[in-house]
Amino acid sequence: MKTIHLITFSLLASVANCYSPCVKRNVRGDSQPDFMVCVCNATYCDDFPPLGTLNADSAAVYVSSSAGKRFERSTVTWTNAKSRKTNKLRRKDAIAKQAHITPSVQMQSIIGFGGAFTDSAGINLASLDNATQELLMQSYYGPNGLQYSLGRVPMASCDFSTHEYSYDDFTGDFALQNFSLTMEDYQYKIPYIKRAMALTGGDMKLFASPWSAPGWMKTNGHMKGGGKLKGFPGGIYDKTWAQYFVRFLEEYNKNGVNFWGLTAQNEPTTGADINYGWQTMFFDAESERDFIKNSLGPALHNSSLGKNIALMTMDDQRFMLPGWADVVFDDDLANSYTAGIAIHWYEDWLAPSSFLADTHKSWPDKFMLATEACSGYMIVHGPSLGAWTRADDYAHDIIVDLNNWVAGWTDWNIALDMKGGPNWVNNVVDAPIIIDSSKGEFYKEPMFYAMGHFSKFIRPNSVRIGLTMDSDSFLEGVAFSTPTSQRVYVIRNAHASDTYDFAIEAADRPGQVLHVSIEPSSITTIVWDKA
Ligand SMILES: *[C@@H]1O[C@H](CO)[C@@H](O)[C@H](O)[C@H]1NC(C)=O
Ligand SMILES: *[C@@H]1O[C@H](CO)[C@@H](O)[C@H](O)[C@H]1NC(C)=O
Ligand SMILES: *[C@@H]1O[C@H](CO)[C@@H](O)[C@H](O)[C@H]1NC(C)=O
Ligand SMILES: *[C@@H]1O[C@H](CO)[C@@H](O)[C@H](O)[C@H]1NC(C)=O
Repeated sequence: MKTIHLITFSLLASVANCYSPCVKRNVRGDSQPDFMVCVCNATYCDDFPPLGTLNADSAAVYVSSSAGKRFERSTVTWTNAKSRKTNKLRRKDAIAKQAHITPSVQMQSIIGFGGAFTDSAGINLASLDNATQELLMQSYYGPNGLQYSLGRVPMASCDFSTHEYSYDDFTGDFALQNFSLTMEDYQYKIPYIKRAMALTGGDMKLFASPWSAPGWMKTNGHMKGGGKLKGFPGGIYDKTWAQYFVRFLEEYNKNGVNFWGLTAQNEPTTGADINYGWQTMFFDAESERDFIKNSLGPALHNSSLGKNIALMTMDDQRFMLPGWADVVFDDDLANSYTAGIAIHWYEDWLAPSSFLADTHKSWPDKFMLATEACSGYMIVHGPSLGAWTRADDYAHDIIVDLNNWVAGWTDWNIALDMKGGPNWVNNVVDAPIIIDSSKGEFYKEPMFYAMGHFSKFIRPNSVRIGLTMDSDSFLEGVAFSTPTSQRVYVIRNAHASDTYDFAIEAADRPGQVLHVSIEPSSITTIVWDKA
């Protein structure tokens, strides 16, 4: 008995220490390592190098870079700030930088990081054999993967569907007697959501968003194109549309899927454009406030599945803040039904990050959550396989959001095909995982690693902590304390040639310093335990 125990133990120990590294493919040839994907198939996929057990004076450093590193792990040691040995650790060619972390200064807590279960993501997953699907799901949700903690689910169809459909396309069915989920829910959404749930041990928050009401409820008669709900505020169309949300929660619940949150409408302002290219429905801040207060809030409040749901307003671009939030929250009733503000990244270049901080200052009890982002939506549409710059764009936006009180960040489709679809109106984009079903392979884009630098260690309920650091438009960072009092410090360096030698100090480790070399065009996550 004893011997068997020992063998089992040593086997487990060796399993815990080994991991599968990235199988690199330079998609534009070896001279361009900044276009590199990691290749996975039915029998092989890279995973996240385990943290292992850290000594009290050591920190783990994970680096991904345009030069080809992907979650490369090393350890560094906290040393006496005054000792000569410490100074020897500094690299001669590196530029000295300072950072100071104050764990006692605590700011917003984290809801999570994740991506969206669209029809297209499910169609692409279903195009792989089961073993390959399993490795893809583990890569995002498993204990050796990114450990995503958040998932978004479109209610019925959106552009990342193969056609236009709602859950009740029966004109005049105000009682929603014919409300029903579709083949897409049963084949492409629910099975993958449930596998993700199982891999996370149930530790994943889901939120849903509608793109449009059924065409018959809209002024333009179609889900596609601009238009708003027919009728008047609080009227029969409003009430029916509100009840549709409740029915959606009920049907998913019957299938074993429960939601933490809802957004009232995806990108409501796009519904002002009568020629808008896919499903949308118009609200401005005033009409969304009225819909929430007259219809959606009361309907959710009256339902056992809806009454504790985190309802989010806006679900649209940053530049609409703080005005949108002011309109909704200035109304006591709409305020009482609404937990947070949902934000998309697409026009962040139009609006300074101070718009977020100002919104938080006015409404400190409402969370802000980034609910959609993707690359390849502008100028170059679709995947740009292996492009490091897209990982850098993600890291930049996530750090800016987190430093301005945003509580989490949700990527768009978890997986797309080689063209960045399917998308029934050809609005193709990029995704962190691109699937080539003809080869039975999938490719982890640099964006996948960008997400992991945040999602892996900044667990739900982590709290942002005080950080002052040397920074500029190329260099920035954000620091957290996790529920187990781990410290997590993420640094983005977008400079193409500068290496920085960071001397990191922490208020709870007086007299100590951590020297970390930050390489050009990189994302670095540093993890250590509370002193
Ligand atoms: C899967 O990937 C591994 C690692 O790159 C490789 O050794 C193996 O041959 C691949 N399998 C197939 C069927 O291509
Ligand atoms: C797919 O793989 C998973 C995990 O290995 C397993 O639980 C499941 O039963 C498999 N499904 C099919 C249809 O083979
Ligand atoms: C529900 O669907 C059936 C056909 O499946 C149709 O005959 C009936 O009229 C529909 N009910 C409503 C209220 O639209
Ligand atoms: C509340 O729920 C009950 C039972 O489900 C329903 O009859 C009633 O119409 C609902 N009221 C509102 C305001 O949705």
